[in-house]
Amino acid sequence: MGLRCTTVALALGALRLATPASAADKAYGQYLSSECVTCHRDDGQDNGIPSIVGWPADQFLAVLMSYKVKDRPNPVMQAITGRLSLQDMEALALYYNSLPKKIADD
Ligand code: HEC
Repeated sequence: MGLRCTTVALALGALRLATPASAADKAYGQYLSSECVTCHRDDGQDNGIPSIVGWPADQFLAVLMSYKVKDRPNPVMQAITGRLSLQDMEALALYYNSLPKKIADD
């Protein structure tokens, strides 16, 4: 794929949430999640850092955006989302939405 295709794909990224999740987005989200799993477990367990699996994708994206624009105060998440594009955050939202939530164990 040439540079032109990549540019078009990035431009389309902003419209992406209106359409059904594609496997390609999820795969990209999984790739990006290698940074997240150093803190957030991907099995839905909360080890002091909140679980982020199984959220509706639009809510997940909204939360990431609120860190990016510094509405939410956490400096770690602000730094991380500061490096992510909208397309990256959408892919992460789709990927994490696809992971099963922890079954309640009480
Ligand atoms: C260095 C550790 C660290 C890394 C890496 C990290 N996070 Fe976080 N994340 C946190 C902490 C701590 C919180 C809780 C912050 C707060 O209280 O607002 C959090 C909160 C969140 C929340 C909100 C959870 C909630 O219940 O409100 C989301 C969504 C999230 N992170 C997504 C991600 C994604 C996606 C990545 C990877 C791109 C990532 N995080 C990488 C530490 C991390």
